[in-house]
This record gives sequence, C-alpha cells and structure tokens, in this order.
Amino acid sequence: EKAGYKHFMAKEVAEQPVVIADALKHYVKGGALNLPEGLDFSTVDRLSMVACGTASYATAVAKYWFEQLAHLPCDVDIASEFRYREPPLSTKGWAMFVSQSGETADTLAALRHAKEQVAKVVAVVNVPTSSIARESDLALPILAGVEVGVASTKAFTCQLTVLFLMALKAGLDRGRLTPAQVADHLSALNTLPGLMNHAMGLSAEIAGIAEKLAEAQDILFLGRGPMFPLAMEGALKLKEISYIHAEGYASGELKHGPIALIDNRVPVIVLAPRDALFEKTVSNMQEVMARHGKVLLISDAQGVAEAGKGCWKTVTLPAVAPILAPILYSVPAQLLAYHTAIAKGTDVDQPRNLAKSVTVE
Ligand code: M6R
Repeated sequence: EKAGYKHFMAKEVAEQPVVIADALKHYVKGGALNLPEGLDFSTVDRLSMVACGTASYATAVAKYWFEQLAHLPCDVDIASEFRYREPPLSTKGWAMFVSQSGETADTLAALRHAKEQVAKVVAVVNVPTSSIARESDLALPILAGVEVGVASTKAFTCQLTVLFLMALKAGLDRGRLTPAQVADHLSALNTLPGLMNHAMGLSAEIAGIAEKLAEAQDILFLGRGPMFPLAMEGALKLKEISYIHAEGYASGELKHGPIALIDNRVPVIVLAPRDALFEKTVSNMQEVMARHGKVLLISDAQGVAEAGKGCWKTVTLPAVAPILAPILYSVPAQLLAYHTAIAKGTDVDQPRNLAKSVTVE
C-alpha cells in the first residue's frame, strides 16, 4: 500500500506532481478554465472561506489570490470560531468550506450555520461523497486521491491548485482578468508538477538539515504575502509530527514581539522566493542574524545569491511565478517536517493525540 515508501506521508508528498497534474487536466481544457457551470462569481459581493487546520491555511493563501486576481472581498475563518462569532454574512455572498475529509465536525457545523444566510455554499473537498460535499450547493473535488497520513500534504497542494483556478475564474467573471491573462497563469501552473519534482530531489539535502533541526526546542517560520500562511502551515506540519514547538509569523511582525525569542538555539526558517517583497524579508532576516538566530533561507538561486551570506543553511528551489510560490514551497516545508520527525523517531503517519478526521466539535 505504501508503494515501497517507508511511510504514507512520504508516498503522499511524492505523489504531488502527479495529482496536481491530474487536477489540472480535469479543470483546464484546451488552455482555458473548465470549472463547473454554477461557479459564476459575477454577482458575488463577498466570499467567506471557512476551514480547520491545514485546510484553513489553504484558504488563507487563497485570500491573497482572490483579492489580487479578482478584487473580491474575502474573509477567512477557522470553523470553530466562525459560527459562534455570528459574522454578518451577505445574501449576495458565497460561503466556501474547504476540507480534505469533508467530515470535520467544526467545518460541517459552520456550513449548516451559514447555509440559509448566503447565496451559495461551495465546498472544496477530497472525498466527493462526504457530508460537506453533500450538504453544499456546489462541490469541487480536489482529486488528490486517498490521503492516509494524518499530516495533510497532497490534499493541501491540491486544495491550493483548485482555489487558484477558482480565483482565476473570479478574476475573469469580475472583469479583472482577460482570457489572455488567465491563459498566462494557466501556463505557469502547468510548470508546477515539473518544479515540484525538482524540489522532491532536494529530499536528501533537507534530511541533512533536519537532523540538526531535530535538536531544537523552538523553531520559527517566516513568510510575507501568500508565503505568510505557508509559514504557519510549515510550523503546523513540524509540530504535528516532530512534537517540536514551532510558530509561523509574518516576517514584518517579528519585530513586534517574537524577536525576543531569538538566540543561537532558535532556528528561523525563512520562506522567501525572490519576489517583490524579498528585500523587506531579507532585512527582517538580518535582524534575526544580528541576534545570532540560525537562519535557514529557502529561496531560489537569485535569492540565495543575493541574501544567502551569513545564513546558517540555504535551500535552493527552482524559480517560480511568485503568485504560485506557496504551492512549490510546500514541498520543502513538508520534507523538513518529515525528516525532522524521522530524526526524532516519532510516529510520522500516526502522531500522538491526533486523528485523520476530527469528527467532534
Ligand atoms: O479533513 P479536513 O481537511 O477538514 O481536516 C482539517 C484538519 O483537521 C487537518 O487539516 C489537520 O490540521 C491536519 N492533520 C494537518 O496536517
């Protein structure tokens, strides 16, 4: 069942280029979007996205995309907070629920709460027969295939892929993107499976770094823009399977408190493709180095050449369209968590205190 891999997680990380290519084949035809009929964003005035855990970080990345590509006002909420906060929803708005299992109790309860208050309930799920899929008006499968490891990996990157396609559709429907611009984004998306394969090839190098990370008590992840939610996802993955305390922060927020934690025992993992925000992130990184924090810079060749000096370690990924970087950079984040857990000898596929699907509120 593990197809020669030691753990389901390793198998599922490795499957990502294939399942993402499958999802793209399904939702893109003849170089244009091929999403379900009912997915017309032209009259939607607000999108409320609700999820838990890793799925909620996918929605947090997608918020950047919907805002940037479609200029669509967008809220993201953790399901267990959403309904008790009694958020005012718009009758012209959509509520979107993202869940790998489609059975997460908090997310399902949030869906039932929102149902009568919005124009449409949309689900993004991996299990098409799940409760969340059945109770929504429109369900988009992410086509990741069965995910067994408790740590969500391929479901996360497939969620991101489908959410990106939806943001493109929203951009088109709302007159913010031309078909030609959408086609450009789609060709960039098509390069992802290959780039992710390349990133997978860095596994042994990342395993070497993870052996050192395994000695740490606390680890910080930093990112800016759409890489900020990915920093939180990297931290969640690491704490979930290696039991090392980790937090993800927006790079610019470090100086407002968490920098007090930095000393020579705290590794700081900076997820920073060479994009428009890079220089600002580098200056945050230098603040860490000035306090003897051990920086692991994950960037592309240009980023590592410009800012790698003085870092504890660097990992060089292929260059990618900045807007798609959260999908590619998921791979090293997952591999770091995986190899750190291996170095610590924890149960990677079945970490303590956790279940694959959380069916209690
Ligand atoms: O099945 P769901 O996507 O609704 O699950 C949500 C979370 O429980 C899940 O993503 C959890 O955070 C993962 N174990 C993280 O790897």
